[in-house]
Amino acid sequence: MKKFLDLISEEMKRGFAAAGYDANLGRVTASNRPDLCEYQCNGAMAGAKTYHKAPLIIAQEVAGCLKDSGIFAQVGVAAPGFLNLKLKESFVRDYVNEMACSPKFGLEMPEKPRNIVVDYGGANVAKPLHVGHLRPAIIGESIKRICRYCGHTVTGDVHLGDWGTQMGLICMELKRRQPELVYFDEDYQGEYPQEPPFTVEQLGEIYPAASKRAKEDPAFKEAALEATVKIQKGVRGYDALWKQIMAVSLPDLKRNYADLNIEFDLWKGESDAKPLIPEMVEEMKASGLAHESDGALVVDVKEETDTKEIPPCLILKSDGAALYATTDLATIKDRMENLHADAIIYLADKRQEMHFLQVFRVARKAGLVKPQTQLVHIPFGTMNAKDGKPFKTRDGGVMQLKSLLEDINEEMYRKIVESRHEMSQEEAAGTAKVVGLSALKYGDLSNQAGKDYIFDIDRFTSFEGDTGPYILYTIVRIKSILGRYRELGHEIAPQAIREAENDLEKDLMMQLAGFNAMMEGACADLAPHKVCAYLYDLANALNRFYHDTRILTEENEKKQAGWISLLSLTLRVLESCIDVLGFSAPERM
Ligand code: ARG
Repeated sequence: MKKFLDLISEEMKRGFAAAGYDANLGRVTASNRPDLCEYQCNGAMAGAKTYHKAPLIIAQEVAGCLKDSGIFAQVGVAAPGFLNLKLKESFVRDYVNEMACSPKFGLEMPEKPRNIVVDYGGANVAKPLHVGHLRPAIIGESIKRICRYCGHTVTGDVHLGDWGTQMGLICMELKRRQPELVYFDEDYQGEYPQEPPFTVEQLGEIYPAASKRAKEDPAFKEAALEATVKIQKGVRGYDALWKQIMAVSLPDLKRNYADLNIEFDLWKGESDAKPLIPEMVEEMKASGLAHESDGALVVDVKEETDTKEIPPCLILKSDGAALYATTDLATIKDRMENLHADAIIYLADKRQEMHFLQVFRVARKAGLVKPQTQLVHIPFGTMNAKDGKPFKTRDGGVMQLKSLLEDINEEMYRKIVESRHEMSQEEAAGTAKVVGLSALKYGDLSNQAGKDYIFDIDRFTSFEGDTGPYILYTIVRIKSILGRYRELGHEIAPQAIREAENDLEKDLMMQLAGFNAMMEGACADLAPHKVCAYLYDLANALNRFYHDTRILTEENEKKQAGWISLLSLTLRVLESCIDVLGFSAPERM
């Protein structure tokens, strides 16, 4: 379907052309003065110079040409030359009725869908998930869903940190505790045991212990770095132990992400890039792109136009070890060859901006991507506590994701039990989880990704204001009205929306009509916060209409059916929006 605002602009352009002016002056925007009009056009002012005419005269002439318009009920002229527009109720009605029966509410699919890879999540294996991993997961999941909804072929890849020093640290801590383990016997030739030498709980304790020891004991740290190189080189015992760490950690990690309603298509990690590294490095050397510097292999990436210092990108350390940039480059190669990526979108916090700048430049210089391939890093800010400082536990440690979720669910549970006494404990707990996730995700996504934001549990879990629970509350409210309507023996007609009888009803329809433009914009800008802003406006429009209208007691059945149809469309749009944000609504709350 054509976009609502485009249809309105087209009509205005027709008016300008009919009056003998450049049609392009007819661009229409939302009204700056909702008290005066619904839409406005400032083209008369813009054209005054070219035509040496007072804008007021131009506006009057254009208005005169739009008297027969099927779209405008009113074309008002206001000094110095504004065109103030009100839409015909019938035009709005027809548009929303068509939306109701169009796939994706009239959102047009791209002629050429793109292959998009979203690299998000980025958990580090064997380290507990902490709040720092929340934002990439939540924002990435939403961007993936938005792009997919808009018709692109999207692959979400968790790109685990499965190759870093944490793995070496764990090996060395284990060696210290159980030196007799066969993994550490260099002469061992046999099969390694099937059983892992630790449980997931033990692993959760081993890593922090090792990390602490490394800070205190340089020799231990050195040994851990060596172990990391051994893992990367595939030394038998270390490789086997690495596989055990992966086998124990992955199911746990998968559960954690599933609890957040986050699903990856690919569970690849940095280590998967390993086989591609040697050839890539050889090519970089052969082409002269990579050169030695202090024993290490680097690629220069600075450009003349740079205003700040961009250091060379490190490809191999002097001991031959691959680095974070190396695995990212090899992964790009993989994604180009196997996923034919047109765009790769990375979610990683602001502090990694330099890393991605370097990686992207090397990738282009080395021809790993096509000139038109888009490489995008979406840098996001930190989630801070109410005091404006990064989120910590009460005793100052890094807040683990699990405890954050527990806190939210507890608060949600309390609020739900407070307002729904009749709900069973079990249902309340289940509902608290669903609503709690909306609080967390909406609280995050409603901010522009690049900004820091304050995690305020009271505000996020509130049923009022710009929050996830408020949106869900609105959805549940509609579900309940539709349910009661059905109980009265009626069926819901999908396309029975009638001409609006008042401004609140019309306003709701106009909000709905903005859906396709909003979604397209959210996709183009990779901006979930645009979906949130739309949701909030739509929920407000719905609630204002609802408070003003007695729907279930209305005696005129056609009128009532029209309203129900409008509510049902609103519900479907709201639900589609929360789905792309990555949460869902309960049946009641
Ligand atoms: N594991 C990384 C971290 O915790 C994030 C990975 C981001 N993705 C990437 N391709 N580098 O910082």
